[in-house]
Amino acid sequence: MEIQNPNMDPSLPKAISGKNDVICQFQGFWVLPIFLQGTKQVLEHFKPLPNDVILASFPKTGTTWLKALLYSITNRSSKNLLITTHPHELVPSLELQVYANSSPHFPTPTSSSTRIFSTHMPYQIIGEILNSSDCRIVYVARNPKDTLISYWHFKNSMLLRKGDQPHPLEDFVSKFCEGTVLFGPYFDHVLGYRKEGLERPKKIFFITFEELKNDTNTHVKRLAEFLGCPFEGEDREEQVEEVVRGCSIDTLKSHEVNKSSDVPSWCMMPYNAFFRKGQVGDHANYLTKDMIERIDKLTREKFHGSIFEE
Ligand code: A3P
Repeated sequence: MEIQNPNMDPSLPKAISGKNDVICQFQGFWVLPIFLQGTKQVLEHFKPLPNDVILASFPKTGTTWLKALLYSITNRSSKNLLITTHPHELVPSLELQVYANSSPHFPTPTSSSTRIFSTHMPYQIIGEILNSSDCRIVYVARNPKDTLISYWHFKNSMLLRKGDQPHPLEDFVSKFCEGTVLFGPYFDHVLGYRKEGLERPKKIFFITFEELKNDTNTHVKRLAEFLGCPFEGEDREEQVEEVVRGCSIDTLKSHEVNKSSDVPSWCMMPYNAFFRKGQVGDHANYLTKDMIERIDKLTREKFHGSIFEE
């Protein structure tokens, strides 16, 4: 098939992601042509400050949850802003929001001196920039099967909005395994941050969605320590509990701003699309035995049992 797109750099390899999205390969990873400009702007102009926190993730691994948590941990006195502001507006994406246009759009300063940004860019691409200052990185990873299913649902809601048919799961599994999904390959994305996180735990805090689900309070305390703002005082446990409760999927889903079907200018999906079930193991409701075997085999080959081993 002839692949054409007006935003496309003709020199970059191209593929079809999802059912019919044209994506291009930039430094080994797949991006949408409309995000390429922002990606290049970040690489050219972003200078992290020593106090910055960068939340890095592959899509659908818990980015929204971590945005809410990181914001609440570092802005305890104004954490109620989560009631009226979507986590994606409180913690903007470097490539999709801050640097999407020719002049960068930085968020309004808050009570905290810590700026928090997110990125889906892999460490292999943005690592050098993040290492140019003492900024801290939090990376959230999620097991590949739940990531895939969450991604598939997200893509399908996008297709349904356009009046298209859902993407057949079998084809989506193939694309995910081959790596031709946005910001893929998933395995290389996780490994880039994982390796650095193991070598430099003071620079990169690597956490999985599953660990966080299993014991949110403990990991919220660890995150606060990593960020240099530990919970202190006699009411320490209550403070932690309040942050965890305020960022739970049920609480976030209950806010009007997160129920909104408005589509922000920087995204193709409405605000409410970022909250679905938020559970561990939902893939079992969708993937066949063969699909599970295929993904598990690849996971063993790529991760060598270091994470997400079945
Ligand atoms: P599911 O589709 O499995 O429900 P991202 O934010 O990276 O796009 O990831 C979206 C996934 O995180 C979705 O998973 C979504 O429901 C889940 N999620 C969003 N907010 C959450 C929260 N506060 N707690 C747990 N999971 C959450």
